[in-house]
Amino acid sequence: MVASAPTVQPQLGSIDHFDDSSIDVLVVGIRGDVMGPSVAAIDVAWAGMINRLMKSGDLRGKPGDIDLIASPKDTGPRMLLVLGLDEQANGRNDAFEAAATAIRRLCDRDRKRIVLAIGDLFDSSLHDSIVAGTLVGCDGQGLYRSEKLPSVPQQIDFVGVKDSAIQRGEILGTSINLTRRLVNAPASEIYPDSFAKAAQTMAEDAGIAIEVWDERKLEQERCRALLAVGRASHFPPRLVILRYQGAGDDSPPLALIGKGVTFDSGGLSIKPTEGMLDMKCDMAGAATVVGAIRAIAKLGIKRNVIGLCGLVENMISGDSYRLGDVIETRSGTTIEIHNTDAEGRVVLADTLDVAIGHKPAAMIDLATLTGACIIALGNEVAGLMSNNESVLQSVQRAASDEGEWVWPLPMFKMYDEKIKSKVADIKNVGNGRAGGAITAAKFLEQFVGDVPWCHIDIAGPAFSDTPLPARDAGATGAMVRTLVRWVETYSA
Ligand code: BES
Ligand code: MN
Ligand code: ZN
Repeated sequence: MVASAPTVQPQLGSIDHFDDSSIDVLVVGIRGDVMGPSVAAIDVAWAGMINRLMKSGDLRGKPGDIDLIASPKDTGPRMLLVLGLDEQANGRNDAFEAAATAIRRLCDRDRKRIVLAIGDLFDSSLHDSIVAGTLVGCDGQGLYRSEKLPSVPQQIDFVGVKDSAIQRGEILGTSINLTRRLVNAPASEIYPDSFAKAAQTMAEDAGIAIEVWDERKLEQERCRALLAVGRASHFPPRLVILRYQGAGDDSPPLALIGKGVTFDSGGLSIKPTEGMLDMKCDMAGAATVVGAIRAIAKLGIKRNVIGLCGLVENMISGDSYRLGDVIETRSGTTIEIHNTDAEGRVVLADTLDVAIGHKPAAMIDLATLTGACIIALGNEVAGLMSNNESVLQSVQRAASDEGEWVWPLPMFKMYDEKIKSKVADIKNVGNGRAGGAITAAKFLEQFVGDVPWCHIDIAGPAFSDTPLPARDAGATGAMVRTLVRWVETYSA
Protein backbone atom coordinates (compact mmCIF):
# COMPACT_ATOMS: atom_id res chain seq x y z
CA MET A 1 0.00 0.00 0.00
CA VAL A 2 1.10 3.60 0.37
CA ALA A 3 4.64 3.38 1.66
CA SER A 4 4.58 5.92 4.47
CA ALA A 5 1.09 5.08 5.69
CA PRO A 6 1.05 2.38 8.35
CA THR A 7 -2.08 0.24 8.22
CA VAL A 8 -3.68 0.22 11.63
CA GLN A 9 -6.67 -2.01 11.65
CA PRO A 10 -8.87 -3.01 14.57
CA GLN A 11 -9.55 -6.68 15.33
CA LEU A 12 -13.18 -7.39 14.52
CA GLY A 13 -15.32 -9.89 16.38
CA SER A 14 -18.86 -10.99 17.01
CA ILE A 15 -20.32 -11.26 20.54
CA ASP A 16 -23.80 -11.81 21.94
CA HIS A 17 -23.69 -10.13 25.33
CA PHE A 18 -22.07 -6.92 26.50
CA ASP A 19 -22.01 -7.17 30.28
CA ASP A 20 -18.24 -6.98 30.24
CA SER A 21 -15.91 -4.61 32.09
CA SER A 22 -13.29 -4.71 29.33
CA ILE A 23 -15.60 -2.62 27.11
CA ASP A 24 -14.57 1.03 26.94
CA VAL A 25 -17.62 2.20 25.02
CA LEU A 26 -20.84 0.47 24.05
CA VAL A 27 -22.61 2.00 21.04
CA VAL A 28 -26.40 1.82 20.80
CA GLY A 29 -29.01 3.62 18.72
CA ILE A 30 -32.46 5.09 19.21
CA ARG A 31 -34.85 5.50 16.32
CA GLY A 32 -37.97 7.52 17.09
CA ASP A 33 -39.35 6.82 20.58
CA VAL A 34 -38.61 3.14 20.50
CA MET A 35 -35.85 1.74 22.67
CA GLY A 36 -34.26 -1.13 20.82
CA PRO A 37 -33.42 -4.36 22.71
CA SER A 38 -29.81 -3.25 23.36
CA VAL A 39 -30.85 0.09 24.85
CA ALA A 40 -33.53 -1.64 26.92
CA ALA A 41 -30.97 -4.12 28.27
CA ILE A 42 -28.63 -1.31 29.33
CA ASP A 43 -31.55 0.55 30.87
CA VAL A 44 -32.32 -2.48 33.03
CA ALA A 45 -28.65 -2.91 33.97
CA TRP A 46 -28.43 0.79 34.82
CA ALA A 47 -31.58 0.77 36.98
CA GLY A 48 -33.77 2.79 34.58
CA MET A 49 -31.24 5.56 34.03
CA ILE A 50 -31.75 5.68 30.24
CA ASN A 51 -35.50 5.93 30.67
CA ARG A 52 -35.08 8.79 33.17
CA LEU A 53 -32.74 10.69 30.82
CA MET A 54 -35.18 10.24 27.95
CA LYS A 55 -38.11 11.44 30.05
CA SER A 56 -36.21 14.53 31.16
CA GLY A 57 -35.25 15.30 27.56
CA ASP A 58 -31.52 15.08 28.27
CA LEU A 59 -31.39 12.09 25.95
CA ARG A 60 -33.61 12.59 22.90
CA GLY A 61 -32.42 10.15 20.27
CA LYS A 62 -33.13 12.81 17.63
CA PRO A 63 -31.57 12.21 14.20
CA GLY A 64 -27.99 13.48 14.37
CA ASP A 65 -27.78 13.40 18.20
CA ILE A 66 -24.64 11.71 19.50
CA ASP A 67 -24.53 11.48 23.29
CA LEU A 68 -21.70 9.97 25.29
CA ILE A 69 -22.85 8.93 28.77
CA ALA A 70 -20.77 7.58 31.65
CA SER A 71 -21.93 4.38 33.29
CA PRO A 72 -23.26 4.69 36.87
CA LYS A 73 -21.91 1.22 37.62
CA ASP A 74 -18.42 -0.08 38.28
CA THR A 75 -18.88 -3.20 36.18
CA GLY A 76 -19.83 -3.59 32.52
CA PRO A 77 -19.17 -0.99 29.77
CA ARG A 78 -17.71 2.25 31.17
CA MET A 79 -19.38 4.53 28.64
CA LEU A 80 -22.43 4.46 26.41
CA LEU A 81 -22.63 6.23 23.05
CA VAL A 82 -26.21 6.82 21.97
CA LEU A 83 -26.87 7.58 18.31
CA GLY A 84 -30.13 9.18 17.26
CA LEU A 85 -31.39 7.80 13.96
CA ASP A 86 -34.04 9.01 11.55
CA GLU A 87 -37.16 6.82 11.39
CA GLN A 88 -36.61 6.28 7.68
CA ALA A 89 -32.90 5.64 8.01
CA ASN A 90 -33.00 1.92 7.39
CA GLY A 91 -31.07 1.40 4.17
CA ARG A 92 -27.56 0.07 3.55
CA ASN A 93 -25.96 3.50 3.55
CA ASP A 94 -27.82 4.48 6.72
CA ALA A 95 -26.32 1.48 8.51
CA PHE A 96 -22.91 2.33 7.01
CA GLU A 97 -23.10 5.96 8.12
CA ALA A 98 -24.44 5.19 11.59
CA ALA A 99 -21.44 2.96 12.28
CA ALA A 100 -18.96 5.37 10.71
CA THR A 101 -20.38 8.28 12.71
CA ALA A 102 -20.09 6.37 15.99
CA ILE A 103 -16.52 5.30 15.34
CA ARG A 104 -15.45 8.75 14.16
CA ARG A 105 -16.87 10.23 17.36
CA LEU A 106 -14.82 7.73 19.39
CA CYS A 107 -11.56 7.91 17.43
CA ASP A 108 -10.62 11.20 19.12
CA ARG A 109 -8.49 9.35 21.71
CA ASP A 110 -7.01 5.95 22.45
CA ARG A 111 -9.60 3.34 23.26
CA LYS A 112 -8.96 -0.37 23.50
CA ARG A 113 -12.31 -1.98 22.96
CA ILE A 114 -15.52 -0.68 21.43
CA VAL A 115 -18.70 -2.70 21.04
CA LEU A 116 -21.35 -1.79 18.47
CA ALA A 117 -24.85 -2.89 19.38
CA ILE A 118 -26.75 -1.15 16.56
CA GLY A 119 -27.44 -4.34 14.58
CA ASP A 120 -30.91 -4.56 16.15
CA LEU A 121 -31.91 -1.32 14.38
CA PHE A 122 -31.21 -2.69 10.90
CA ASP A 123 -32.33 -5.70 8.89
CA SER A 124 -29.74 -8.46 9.12
CA SER A 125 -29.26 -8.34 5.30
CA LEU A 126 -27.45 -5.03 5.74
CA HIS A 127 -25.31 -5.88 8.76
CA ASP A 128 -22.23 -6.08 6.52
CA SER A 129 -22.73 -2.35 5.89
CA ILE A 130 -22.35 -1.66 9.61
CA VAL A 131 -19.00 -3.43 9.56
CA ALA A 132 -17.85 -1.67 6.39
CA GLY A 133 -18.86 1.73 7.77
CA THR A 134 -16.98 1.00 10.98
CA LEU A 135 -13.75 0.41 9.11
CA VAL A 136 -14.22 3.45 6.88
CA GLY A 137 -14.80 5.53 10.02
CA CYS A 138 -11.45 4.29 11.36
CA ASP A 139 -9.46 5.68 8.42
CA GLY A 140 -8.93 9.27 7.38
CA GLN A 141 -6.72 11.74 5.61
CA GLY A 142 -4.61 12.62 8.66
CA LEU A 143 -1.95 10.10 7.64
CA TYR A 144 0.84 12.59 7.78
CA ARG A 145 0.13 14.21 11.12
CA SER A 146 2.68 13.44 13.80
CA GLU A 147 -0.15 12.78 16.23
CA LYS A 148 -2.19 10.11 14.46
CA LEU A 149 -5.88 10.87 14.08
CA PRO A 150 -8.16 8.99 13.86
CA SER A 151 -6.92 6.90 16.75
CA VAL A 152 -7.98 3.36 15.96
CA PRO A 153 -9.24 1.03 18.73
CA GLN A 154 -7.54 -2.36 19.05
CA GLN A 155 -10.77 -4.33 19.16
CA ILE A 156 -14.24 -3.68 17.80
CA ASP A 157 -16.98 -6.22 18.46
CA PHE A 158 -20.46 -6.37 16.97
CA VAL A 159 -23.50 -7.62 18.85
CA GLY A 160 -25.87 -9.91 16.94
CA VAL A 161 -23.93 -9.72 13.67
CA LYS A 162 -23.16 -13.01 11.93
CA ASP A 163 -19.57 -13.94 11.06
CA SER A 164 -20.49 -13.95 7.36
CA ALA A 165 -21.61 -10.30 7.60
CA ILE A 166 -18.40 -9.40 9.43
CA GLN A 167 -16.35 -11.04 6.70
CA ARG A 168 -18.20 -9.31 3.88
CA GLY A 169 -18.16 -5.97 5.68
CA GLU A 170 -14.46 -6.26 6.40
CA ILE A 171 -13.73 -6.89 2.70
CA LEU A 172 -15.88 -3.93 1.63
CA GLY A 173 -14.50 -1.59 4.28
CA THR A 174 -10.83 -2.38 3.69
CA SER A 175 -11.34 -2.10 -0.08
CA ILE A 176 -12.98 1.31 0.23
CA ASN A 177 -10.09 2.37 2.48
CA LEU A 178 -7.55 1.18 -0.09
CA THR A 179 -9.22 3.44 -2.66
CA ARG A 180 -9.23 6.32 -0.19
CA ARG A 181 -5.58 5.88 0.73
CA LEU A 182 -4.47 5.84 -2.90
CA VAL A 183 -6.43 9.04 -3.51
CA ASN A 184 -5.31 10.77 -0.30
CA ALA A 185 -1.62 10.05 -0.93
CA PRO A 186 0.12 13.08 -2.47
CA ALA A 187 1.18 12.99 -6.12
CA SER A 188 4.83 12.82 -5.03
CA GLU A 189 4.05 9.33 -3.68
CA ILE A 190 1.40 8.07 -6.05
CA TYR A 191 2.53 8.53 -9.66
CA PRO A 192 1.85 6.14 -12.54
CA ASP A 193 4.53 3.57 -11.67
CA SER A 194 3.92 3.61 -7.90
CA PHE A 195 0.18 3.34 -8.53
CA ALA A 196 0.86 0.31 -10.74
CA LYS A 197 2.99 -1.20 -7.96
CA ALA A 198 0.18 -0.62 -5.45
CA ALA A 199 -2.20 -2.36 -7.87
CA GLN A 200 0.31 -5.21 -8.12
CA THR A 201 0.47 -5.57 -4.34
CA MET A 202 -3.32 -5.68 -4.27
CA ALA A 203 -3.42 -8.25 -7.11
CA GLU A 204 -0.97 -10.57 -5.34
CA ASP A 205 -2.90 -10.31 -2.09
CA ALA A 206 -6.26 -10.95 -3.79
CA GLY A 207 -4.88 -13.66 -6.07
CA ILE A 208 -5.70 -12.05 -9.40
CA ALA A 209 -3.71 -11.55 -12.60
CA ILE A 210 -2.18 -8.20 -13.49
CA GLU A 211 -0.40 -6.82 -16.52
CA VAL A 212 1.39 -3.46 -16.50
CA TRP A 213 2.17 -1.71 -19.78
CA ASP A 214 5.22 0.57 -19.57
CA GLU A 215 6.01 3.38 -22.01
CA ARG A 216 7.63 1.02 -24.53
CA LYS A 217 4.67 -1.33 -24.57
CA LEU A 218 2.37 1.69 -24.82
CA GLU A 219 4.31 2.80 -27.95
CA GLN A 220 3.97 -0.68 -29.46
CA GLU A 221 0.27 -0.61 -28.72
CA ARG A 222 -0.04 2.82 -30.37
CA CYS A 223 -1.52 4.42 -27.24
CA ARG A 224 -0.43 7.81 -28.53
CA ALA A 225 -3.15 9.81 -26.82
CA LEU A 226 -2.29 8.47 -23.38
CA LEU A 227 1.43 8.94 -24.09
CA ALA A 228 0.91 12.52 -25.29
CA VAL A 229 -0.77 13.59 -22.07
CA GLY A 230 1.94 11.95 -19.96
CA ARG A 231 4.89 13.18 -22.01
CA ALA A 232 5.79 16.27 -19.96
CA SER A 233 6.04 14.40 -16.68
CA HIS A 234 9.18 13.12 -15.02
CA PHE A 235 7.10 10.00 -14.27
CA PRO A 236 6.37 7.86 -17.36
CA PRO A 237 2.79 6.65 -18.02
CA ARG A 238 1.47 3.18 -17.28
CA LEU A 239 -1.59 1.17 -18.20
CA VAL A 240 -2.71 -1.42 -15.67
CA ILE A 241 -4.86 -4.40 -16.67
CA LEU A 242 -6.33 -6.47 -13.82
CA ARG A 243 -8.03 -9.77 -14.59
CA TYR A 244 -10.30 -11.59 -12.18
CA GLN A 245 -11.72 -14.91 -13.36
CA GLY A 246 -14.66 -15.71 -11.13
CA ALA A 247 -16.58 -17.53 -13.86
CA GLY A 248 -15.61 -19.91 -16.68
CA ASP A 249 -13.03 -18.96 -19.31
CA ASP A 250 -15.62 -18.45 -22.01
CA SER A 251 -17.83 -16.05 -20.07
CA PRO A 252 -17.33 -12.49 -21.42
CA PRO A 253 -16.02 -10.14 -18.74
CA LEU A 254 -17.48 -7.00 -17.29
CA ALA A 255 -14.96 -4.18 -17.65
CA LEU A 256 -14.24 -1.39 -15.16
CA ILE A 257 -12.09 1.46 -16.46
CA GLY A 258 -10.60 4.28 -14.41
CA LYS A 259 -9.08 7.68 -15.14
CA GLY A 260 -5.72 7.67 -13.41
CA VAL A 261 -4.28 11.17 -13.73
CA THR A 262 -2.01 11.08 -10.68
CA PHE A 263 -1.72 14.87 -10.78
CA ASP A 264 -3.54 17.32 -13.02
CA SER A 265 -1.72 20.63 -13.32
CA GLY A 266 -3.81 21.37 -16.40
CA GLY A 267 -0.69 21.21 -18.61
CA LEU A 268 -0.07 24.26 -20.80
CA SER A 269 -3.72 25.24 -20.17
CA ILE A 270 -2.51 25.55 -16.59
CA LYS A 271 -4.93 25.58 -13.66
CA PRO A 272 -4.92 28.43 -11.14
CA THR A 273 -3.68 27.55 -7.63
CA GLU A 274 -7.11 26.91 -6.09
CA GLY A 275 -8.10 24.65 -8.95
CA MET A 276 -4.85 22.67 -8.74
CA LEU A 277 -4.66 22.19 -4.97
CA ASP A 278 -6.64 18.96 -4.76
CA MET A 279 -5.60 17.53 -8.11
CA LYS A 280 -3.85 14.57 -6.51
CA CYS A 281 -7.43 13.27 -6.49
CA ASP A 282 -7.54 13.01 -10.28
CA MET A 283 -6.70 9.31 -10.20
CA ALA A 284 -9.79 8.53 -8.09
CA GLY A 285 -11.45 6.68 -10.98
CA ALA A 286 -8.49 4.30 -11.24
CA ALA A 287 -8.31 3.93 -7.44
CA THR A 288 -12.03 3.11 -7.37
CA VAL A 289 -11.44 0.35 -9.94
CA VAL A 290 -8.57 -1.09 -7.84
CA GLY A 291 -10.66 -1.02 -4.64
CA ALA A 292 -13.73 -2.52 -6.31
CA ILE A 293 -11.82 -5.34 -8.02
CA ARG A 294 -10.11 -6.19 -4.74
CA ALA A 295 -13.52 -6.52 -3.08
CA ILE A 296 -14.98 -8.47 -6.02
CA ALA A 297 -12.08 -10.96 -5.94
CA LYS A 298 -12.06 -11.36 -2.16
CA LEU A 299 -15.83 -11.88 -2.13
CA GLY A 300 -15.39 -14.56 -4.79
CA ILE A 301 -18.14 -13.12 -6.99
CA LYS A 302 -18.87 -15.54 -9.83
CA ARG A 303 -18.19 -13.19 -12.73
CA ASN A 304 -15.21 -12.46 -14.92
CA VAL A 305 -14.10 -8.88 -14.45
CA ILE A 306 -11.30 -6.87 -15.99
CA GLY A 307 -10.09 -3.56 -14.65
CA LEU A 308 -8.10 -1.03 -16.66
CA CYS A 309 -6.36 2.02 -15.26
CA GLY A 310 -4.93 4.67 -17.59
CA LEU A 311 -2.15 6.29 -15.57
CA VAL A 312 -0.42 9.55 -16.43
CA GLU A 313 0.68 12.77 -14.79
CA ASN A 314 -0.48 15.92 -16.61
CA MET A 315 2.48 18.29 -16.32
CA ILE A 316 4.34 21.04 -18.14
CA SER A 317 7.72 20.94 -19.90
CA GLY A 318 9.31 21.76 -23.24
CA ASP A 319 7.82 18.47 -24.39
CA SER A 320 4.23 19.12 -23.28
CA TYR A 321 1.44 18.19 -25.64
CA ARG A 322 0.17 21.40 -27.12
CA LEU A 323 -3.00 23.20 -28.07
CA GLY A 324 -3.63 22.59 -31.74
CA ASP A 325 -1.82 19.24 -31.74
CA VAL A 326 -3.59 16.46 -33.57
CA ILE A 327 -3.19 12.99 -32.10
CA GLU A 328 -4.05 9.70 -33.71
CA THR A 329 -5.55 7.58 -30.96
CA ARG A 330 -5.12 3.79 -30.70
CA SER A 331 -8.52 3.29 -32.36
CA GLY A 332 -7.47 5.44 -35.34
CA THR A 333 -9.85 8.29 -34.50
CA THR A 334 -7.94 11.58 -34.63
CA ILE A 335 -8.36 14.23 -31.97
CA GLU A 336 -7.47 17.90 -31.98
CA ILE A 337 -6.32 19.34 -28.67
CA HIS A 338 -8.08 22.59 -27.76
CA ASN A 339 -7.32 22.50 -24.06
CA THR A 340 -4.62 20.42 -22.34
CA ASP A 341 -6.67 20.52 -19.13
CA ALA A 342 -9.30 18.32 -20.80
CA GLU A 343 -6.77 15.49 -20.48
CA GLY A 344 -8.85 12.79 -18.80
CA ARG A 345 -10.90 12.05 -21.90
CA VAL A 346 -7.71 11.89 -23.98
CA VAL A 347 -6.21 9.28 -21.64
CA LEU A 348 -9.50 7.36 -21.55
CA ALA A 349 -9.74 7.32 -25.36
CA ASP A 350 -6.88 4.79 -25.54
CA THR A 351 -7.79 3.04 -22.28
CA LEU A 352 -11.37 2.40 -23.47
CA ASP A 353 -10.03 1.14 -26.79
CA VAL A 354 -7.85 -1.42 -24.99
CA ALA A 355 -10.89 -2.38 -22.88
CA ILE A 356 -13.19 -3.09 -25.83
CA GLY A 357 -10.45 -5.33 -27.28
CA HIS A 358 -11.32 -7.73 -24.43
CA LYS A 359 -14.89 -7.98 -25.76
CA PRO A 360 -16.64 -7.08 -22.50
CA ALA A 361 -20.34 -7.82 -22.05
CA ALA A 362 -20.70 -4.34 -20.59
CA MET A 363 -18.42 -1.69 -19.17
CA ILE A 364 -18.32 1.20 -16.75
CA ASP A 365 -15.73 3.93 -16.68
CA LEU A 366 -15.14 6.16 -13.68
CA ALA A 367 -13.45 9.52 -13.90
CA THR A 368 -13.02 12.79 -12.05
CA LEU A 369 -13.68 14.17 -15.50
CA THR A 370 -15.33 17.58 -15.38
CA GLY A 371 -15.91 20.56 -13.13
CA ALA A 372 -19.06 20.97 -15.21
CA CYS A 373 -20.53 17.83 -13.63
CA ILE A 374 -20.10 19.46 -10.22
CA ILE A 375 -21.89 22.55 -11.51
CA ALA A 376 -24.72 20.37 -12.86
CA LEU A 377 -25.26 18.03 -9.91
CA GLY A 378 -23.39 19.44 -6.93
CA ASN A 379 -20.51 17.99 -4.96
CA GLU A 380 -22.22 14.84 -3.71
CA VAL A 381 -23.83 13.33 -6.79
CA ALA A 382 -22.09 11.40 -9.56
CA GLY A 383 -23.22 11.96 -13.16
CA LEU A 384 -24.22 8.98 -15.30
CA MET A 385 -23.94 9.05 -19.07
CA SER A 386 -24.56 5.99 -21.18
CA ASN A 387 -25.15 4.60 -24.67
CA ASN A 388 -27.50 1.91 -23.40
CA GLU A 389 -30.68 2.29 -21.35
CA SER A 390 -30.49 -1.08 -19.62
CA VAL A 391 -26.88 -0.64 -18.45
CA LEU A 392 -27.77 2.84 -17.24
CA GLN A 393 -30.68 1.45 -15.24
CA SER A 394 -28.55 -1.36 -13.81
CA VAL A 395 -26.05 1.19 -12.49
CA GLN A 396 -28.84 3.35 -11.07
CA ARG A 397 -30.31 0.31 -9.33
CA ALA A 398 -26.96 -0.77 -7.88
CA ALA A 399 -26.30 2.74 -6.59
CA SER A 400 -29.77 3.06 -5.11
CA ASP A 401 -29.43 -0.34 -3.36
CA GLU A 402 -26.19 0.90 -1.79
CA GLY A 403 -27.53 4.37 -1.03
CA GLU A 404 -24.92 6.12 -3.18
CA TRP A 405 -26.04 9.18 -5.16
CA VAL A 406 -26.03 9.09 -8.96
CA TRP A 407 -28.12 10.92 -11.55
CA PRO A 408 -28.33 10.55 -15.35
CA LEU A 409 -27.51 13.29 -17.84
CA PRO A 410 -28.84 13.17 -21.43
CA MET A 411 -26.77 11.91 -24.36
CA PHE A 412 -28.85 13.29 -27.26
CA LYS A 413 -27.30 12.95 -30.70
CA MET A 414 -27.43 16.74 -31.01
CA TYR A 415 -24.44 17.01 -28.65
CA ASP A 416 -22.20 15.17 -31.15
CA GLU A 417 -22.00 18.41 -33.17
CA LYS A 418 -20.28 20.18 -30.27
CA ILE A 419 -17.11 18.09 -30.43
CA LYS A 420 -16.62 18.21 -34.21
CA SER A 421 -13.20 19.56 -35.24
CA LYS A 422 -12.24 21.47 -38.38
CA VAL A 423 -9.00 19.55 -38.76
CA ALA A 424 -9.48 16.19 -37.05
CA ASP A 425 -12.32 13.75 -36.36
CA ILE A 426 -13.11 15.35 -32.99
CA LYS A 427 -11.73 17.97 -30.59
CA ASN A 428 -11.22 17.47 -26.88
CA VAL A 429 -13.62 20.18 -25.66
CA GLY A 430 -17.17 21.24 -26.47
CA ASN A 431 -18.22 24.73 -27.49
CA GLY A 432 -17.48 26.82 -24.44
CA ARG A 433 -18.48 25.53 -21.02
CA ALA A 434 -22.09 24.71 -21.82
CA GLY A 435 -22.99 21.08 -21.18
CA GLY A 436 -19.37 20.30 -20.31
CA ALA A 437 -20.03 17.00 -18.51
CA ILE A 438 -22.02 15.72 -21.47
CA THR A 439 -19.65 16.84 -24.23
CA ALA A 440 -16.88 15.04 -22.31
CA ALA A 441 -19.00 11.88 -22.25
CA LYS A 442 -19.76 12.31 -25.95
CA PHE A 443 -16.01 12.34 -26.59
CA LEU A 444 -15.63 9.07 -24.63
CA GLU A 445 -18.54 7.52 -26.53
CA GLN A 446 -16.42 7.70 -29.70
CA PHE A 447 -14.16 5.02 -28.21
CA VAL A 448 -16.58 2.45 -26.77
CA GLY A 449 -17.64 0.80 -30.04
CA ASP A 450 -20.95 -0.99 -29.59
CA VAL A 451 -20.24 -2.20 -26.06
CA PRO A 452 -23.03 -1.32 -23.60
CA TRP A 453 -21.33 1.35 -21.54
CA CYS A 454 -21.93 3.72 -18.67
CA HIS A 455 -19.66 6.63 -17.77
CA ILE A 456 -19.66 7.81 -14.15
CA ASP A 457 -18.31 11.32 -13.60
CA ILE A 458 -17.15 11.35 -9.96
CA ALA A 459 -15.49 14.80 -10.00
CA GLY A 460 -17.82 15.86 -7.17
CA PRO A 461 -18.23 12.86 -4.85
CA ALA A 462 -14.70 11.36 -5.04
CA PHE A 463 -13.06 14.02 -2.90
CA SER A 464 -14.37 16.52 -0.40
CA ASP A 465 -12.83 19.48 1.36
CA THR A 466 -15.29 19.36 4.25
CA PRO A 467 -15.64 16.58 6.83
CA LEU A 468 -19.05 15.22 7.86
CA PRO A 469 -19.98 13.27 11.01
CA ALA A 470 -19.93 10.06 8.94
CA ARG A 471 -16.72 10.70 7.01
CA ASP A 472 -13.45 12.56 6.99
CA ALA A 473 -12.69 15.20 4.38
CA GLY A 474 -10.47 14.06 1.52
CA ALA A 475 -11.04 10.88 -0.44
CA THR A 476 -14.45 9.26 0.06
CA GLY A 477 -14.20 5.92 -1.74
CA ALA A 478 -17.46 6.78 -3.51
CA MET A 479 -18.80 4.14 -5.93
CA VAL A 480 -16.75 1.18 -4.69
CA ARG A 481 -19.88 -0.32 -3.12
CA THR A 482 -21.96 0.48 -6.20
CA LEU A 483 -19.46 -1.23 -8.51
CA VAL A 484 -19.37 -4.36 -6.36
CA ARG A 485 -23.17 -4.49 -6.30
CA TRP A 486 -23.33 -3.87 -10.06
CA VAL A 487 -20.94 -6.72 -10.84
CA GLU A 488 -22.91 -9.00 -8.49
CA THR A 489 -26.27 -8.20 -10.05
CA TYR A 490 -25.72 -7.19 -13.69
CA SER A 491 -27.43 -9.27 -16.33
CA ALA A 492 -27.85 -8.17 -19.95
N1 BES B 1 -9.66 16.79 -13.37
C1 BES B 1 -10.42 17.85 -13.93
C2 BES B 1 -11.87 17.86 -13.46
C3 BES B 1 -12.11 18.09 -11.99
C4 BES B 1 -12.41 19.36 -11.52
C5 BES B 1 -12.09 17.03 -11.10
C6 BES B 1 -12.64 19.56 -10.17
C7 BES B 1 -12.33 17.23 -9.75
C8 BES B 1 -12.61 18.50 -9.28
C9 BES B 1 -10.41 17.74 -15.45
O1 BES B 1 -9.27 17.19 -16.01
C10 BES B 1 -10.52 19.12 -15.98
O2 BES B 1 -9.64 19.90 -15.77
N2 BES B 1 -11.61 19.40 -16.70
C11 BES B 1 -11.84 20.67 -17.26
C12 BES B 1 -12.36 20.47 -18.66
C13 BES B 1 -12.40 21.72 -19.49
C14 BES B 1 -11.01 22.24 -19.76
C15 BES B 1 -13.11 21.42 -20.80
C16 BES B 1 -12.86 21.40 -16.41
O3 BES B 1 -13.76 20.75 -15.87
O4 BES B 1 -12.73 22.61 -16.24
MN1 MN C 1 -7.74 18.60 -16.33
ZN1 ZN D 1 -8.19 15.92 -14.85
